[in-house]
This record gives sequence, structure tokens and C-alpha cells, in this order.
Amino acid sequence: MGEPMIVLDEVTAGYGEHPVLRHLDATIERGEFVAVLGPNGSGKTTLIRLLLGLLAPSNGSVVVAGTSPSAARSCVGYVPQHRGFDRDLPIRGRELVELGLTGSQLGLPLPRRSRRRRVDDVLELVGANAFATAPIGMLSGGEQQRLRIAQALLGEPSLLLLDEPLLALDPRRQHEITTLLDARRRATGLTVVFVTHEINPILPFVDKVLYLVGGRAALGSPDEVLTTATLSDLYDAPVEVLDVGGRRVVLAGDAEVAGLLGHHHHDHGHDHDEEDSRWD
Ligand SMILES: Nc1ncnc2c1ncn2[C@@H]1O[C@H](COP(=O)(O)OP(=O)(O)OP(=O)(O)O)[C@@H](O)[C@H]1O
Ligand SMILES: [Mg+2]
Repeated sequence: MGEPMIVLDEVTAGYGEHPVLRHLDATIERGEFVAVLGPNGSGKTTLIRLLLGLLAPSNGSVVVAGTSPSAARSCVGYVPQHRGFDRDLPIRGRELVELGLTGSQLGLPLPRRSRRRRVDDVLELVGANAFATAPIGMLSGGEQQRLRIAQALLGEPSLLLLDEPLLALDPRRQHEITTLLDARRRATGLTVVFVTHEINPILPFVDKVLYLVGGRAALGSPDEVLTTATLSDLYDAPVEVLDVGGRRVVLAGDAEVAGLLGHHHHDHGHDHDEEDSRWD
């Protein structure tokens, strides 16, 4: 066990005068698989930015691996929210993955051969060998996504932050990637923080759900958080959670909440990810 991987204590954070997250308390243990859920604009990416030290809280404290987020940066892998690479970007998948080494391990130059082997290993891990030498702009959304995950894993992080990593993947790939991440954390004790709009593909692997709505949050096991009572309280409106053959379906009685939940649809797009993202 040891010290937790992440401790948020009374964190308030946002941009300008309007806090996006308010008085957020959360502890995430090492080796946990945590899903971060919530409607558009609820602060999921903001939370990731706090954990990376790209944004400072206006109140409260953020501790990652026992230290400040910026000091912990070298043991953190990150897959940003993404909208696809330019078609004519003159870089190959393999080169993209290799950037994961130079980025986080500047102080630790590896000899060429072992470096090549590490890249080969992660490419194999995500099943990207077949297309690793093609220009990334020409690859499908799912292929690009696997390369980005490989890049984040290359530095052997102890914390992996993924912002909507399943977005461009079909159900089979979604399952492959989640299984892979789960195996990885079982093997290495990796902590996984997984932002998603669609809980069902990852539900079997999730230890905790952090559900954000309107600056407030609920944290607990899926069975604690994904309930009619907890979500109705969080949305401050009637919400019903159904268990349909092991899948959770969230229904809103309220038109406004239905609008917030309505976003769930565009998860299954393939090549083109229309997600608005400011951070890539
Ligand atoms: N740089 C910024 N300046 C001002 N406001 C911002 C900035 N970045 C984000 N916001 C606002 O903060 C709120 C939370 O944004 P955030 O990106 O964290 O949401 P999200 O939960 O990741 O949403 P999505 O599901 O669309 O990715 C939104 O209202 C957004 O408009
Ligand atoms: Mg976001």
C-alpha cells in the first residue's frame, strides 16, 4: 500500500473568477483504476491539468506521489484529449512513440539499442507494430490512439492520466486497450486515471468512479456512485440509474439533465473525433 498516489485536499480550481472544481477532496491509492466521469465542461480535463501541475489550485492542495505535481511529472504518463493529427504531419508513429522517452527522461539517456528495444516493446504491447512506420496523419483514429498510449507508457510511469482515450476506438479496440491497461497496472502497480464519457467499456476494471457535476463531485466504487440516489443528488435533479445486464444506463427525468447526459452518443465515432480540445 504505502502512501496514496493522489491526494486532493479541499481543492478549488478554475479559470478567472469561476471555479470549475469546488472543495474537492479525493484520495487515490497506488494501483487503482479510477474513472473520471461528468458532462462537458464539468472539469475533467481541468482535474488532469491540476495533476500535471499545469494549473495551480486557487485553494487547497494537490499531492501526487507524495510531492507536488510538477515534481512528480517524471513518473506520470499522459494521453491528452485529442482531435486527430493533421493528415500531412511528417512524422511516423514510431517517432511519435519515441518522443515519450526524450520528453520525460531527459536526465537518463539510453543507449540507442535499448532505446529501440523499449520502443519495440510498447509498440508490441498496444498492437501497433504493423503501422508504426506509416506517417501518423494517414492512420485511423484508433491506430493513432494506440500510438499515443504507447508513447505515454514508454517512460514506465507509475501514474497514467488518460483524457478520453477510447474516443476514436471501436468496441473491440476499446476492450483491448482497457484490458491492456488493466494488465499493466496488475503487473506494475500502475495507477490509472481514466477520463471517459462512456463508463460501460471500462466498468469491469474500475475500482473507483470520480463523478463531477457543476463543481461538485462524488467519489466511490461504481456501485456507490452510479446509483439513482447519488447521481440525483449530484445533478440536483431526478436521475435514474438502471442496471441492464451489467451495463449502467443513466436516465434523466429532467430536460436539462437529459441535455447534460445527451453527450454520450458521439463516443462511437471512428476516424473523426469532433471533441473540442484546447490542450493538444
Ligand atoms: N483556459 C481556459 N480559460 C477559461 N475557461 C476555461 C479554460 N479551459 C477550460 N475552461 C472552462 O472550464 C470548464 C471546464 O472545462 P474542462 O475542459 O475541464 O471540462 P471537461 O469536463 O474536460 O469537458 P469535456 O467533456 O468537454 O472535455 C468549462 O466551462 C470550460 O469552458
Ligand atoms: Mg475534457
